Amino acid sequence: KKPGIGESHAKVILLGEHAVVYGQPAIALPLPDLAMTVKIEPREAGQIILAQAYRGPLEAMAEVYEGIRQLIIRLLQYFDEPNMPFTMSITSNIPQERGMGSSAATAIAIVRGFFDYFNKKLSKQALQRWASIEESITHGSPSGLDTATVANDQAIWFIKGKQPEKINMSLDATLIIADTGIQGQTGLAVSVVREHLLNEPQSAQHHIDKIGEIAKHTRTAISENNVLKLGQFMNKAQKHLSALGISHPKLDELISAAREAGALGAKLTGGGVGGTMIALTQNAEQTTHVLTALEAAGAQEVWTQTYSHNN
Ligand code: MEV
Repeated sequence: KKPGIGESHAKVILLGEHAVVYGQPAIALPLPDLAMTVKIEPREAGQIILAQAYRGPLEAMAEVYEGIRQLIIRLLQYFDEPNMPFTMSITSNIPQERGMGSSAATAIAIVRGFFDYFNKKLSKQALQRWASIEESITHGSPSGLDTATVANDQAIWFIKGKQPEKINMSLDATLIIADTGIQGQTGLAVSVVREHLLNEPQSAQHHIDKIGEIAKHTRTAISENNVLKLGQFMNKAQKHLSALGISHPKLDELISAAREAGALGAKLTGGGVGGTMIALTQNAEQTTHVLTALEAAGAQEVWTQTYSHNN
């Protein structure tokens, strides 16, 4: 029998993280260069190989992988093969715990891998529903933004509980993504915002509403190829995210370094409290300056994604 193959890619949230949990819209982008492949092969005494992270039997997967374990168990039940011996191996260049959607990407690739193995068709809605099994165990009550972005090959406009809308990223800009090197924990960050809402409901709600408003303006700025405006909106969103308590000194440092080097905008992306930040530039020279500044400020790794009006 031929192996089952499932692929997926990383994502980055351009605007709207956290507020999206409370019903505000968000814009998220796929990062096709950071990809993951799952291979499922029938094999006696098979094992699960999660890139560099884990190698061993399904039963012994540690607590951190409980979401993945449960997803696999339910998929096997669904295909009426609860005791099927197999080896599942994942190769990936998506960094983990960096707000780049590695857990959603893992879930999406696994679901695709099993459906491919059993030669069954899979709709996008079903794919997202399956992946949400893993996400809700790993992240508590996620908005679904990560799975929706990873399941789509295009930029999306996302509102919790609705089908995502595609966004055309036809603007002349480069997005730089930089890793603080500090493990960002989405679940923890989401609970920081929840605490804020409990303790200071008025101010927290104000920041959440503002982020939603900025997301709407950002969508317009993108459709008008207004890169300057987009940068300003990113800066504004960062203020509100910071006020919600989910920035981090290292994030602030990289954000300042990027802005000082000429970035049009910079903010944290994803869960925050560590993890990654994004910066916006308009031409190659600016991009080089910002990349140099980010590395000098201690960014552990940087990636770029360039968009063009002609695409
Ligand atoms: C994490 O990538 C995005 C958050 O908004 C959480 C979520 O949407 O579930 C922080």
